[in-house]
Amino acid sequence: MKIKKQEFQNFQQLIYKEFGISLSDRKTTLVQSRLRKWVQKLNLRSYQDLYEYFLNDTSELYLLADAITTNVTSFFREANQWQYLKTYLSTCTEKKLRIWSGACSSGQEPYTIAIFLKENLKDFNAWDIKILATDLSKDILKKAMKGEYSQKEVEGLTKTHLQKYFLKSGETYKIKQEIKDMIIFKSFNLVTGNYSIFKNKFNLIFCRNVMIYFDKKTQYQVINKLKNLLSNKSLLLLGQSESITEPVQSLQIVTSSIYQKKV
Ligand SMILES: C[S@@+](CC[C@H](N)C(=O)[O-])C[C@H]1O[C@@H](n2cnc3c(N)ncnc32)[C@H](O)[C@@H]1O
Repeated sequence: MKIKKQEFQNFQQLIYKEFGISLSDRKTTLVQSRLRKWVQKLNLRSYQDLYEYFLNDTSELYLLADAITTNVTSFFREANQWQYLKTYLSTCTEKKLRIWSGACSSGQEPYTIAIFLKENLKDFNAWDIKILATDLSKDILKKAMKGEYSQKEVEGLTKTHLQKYFLKSGETYKIKQEIKDMIIFKSFNLVTGNYSIFKNKFNLIFCRNVMIYFDKKTQYQVINKLKNLLSNKSLLLLGQSESITEPVQSLQIVTSSIYQKKV
């Protein structure tokens, strides 16, 4: 069954409204193949019926967002940022850190943060640290919470990291409980989510390699909301290929893809 132009446009608008994701016409075949399975599973007659189904209940629509975005991630991604963070940490006067990984995918990003802090804070036990890790996709969050990775997935880690922070079971590397305990996983949509649930400000917000899915207007809105959750001198980290194109008040670039709040 072929998706009609109008039906595709309806989904384009819905995906944009729900997730801020701009879906190009080039994704028609991908979207069609994903939607066809649902049409069959739900015994519907057309893509239009499915669209109306989703208008009433968008709870499963994230699966479509999953199909059109990528969950690609890795441990210690964006090497230069970790280098910068070493210097940044040495300037922190209070031994308290609140950190948010805003599109955490399968967990490599928040686990890297935890490992990085363990490795780089001299008196680690004296620090009060909380890491929040969120993603739109409930399925990818399940994998993140499990914290189990294949040989290929742990490629960014050194032998020492693997020995210290993972348990090996067959071909699987399982993140140790002490690292897991540093992180709280939750689902959160960066575009439509209610930011007022965050009662405390963050010192570091990682929002890496997700802005690419948003158009300029949505990027600007999301960055402003994130900025409001940063305390003074705190950092916003984007992906290496992402940048803030329009000036955002009280947010200044400090090095490539890292921005600092200055009030
Ligand atoms: C390419 S991964 C980036 C993972 C990690 N931040 C990194 O840089 O390695 C993009 C992630 O963004 C998530 N995502 C896409 N749209 C989102 C939205 N509106 N709100 C929250 N997460 C979203 C996807 O589910 C996916 O896991």
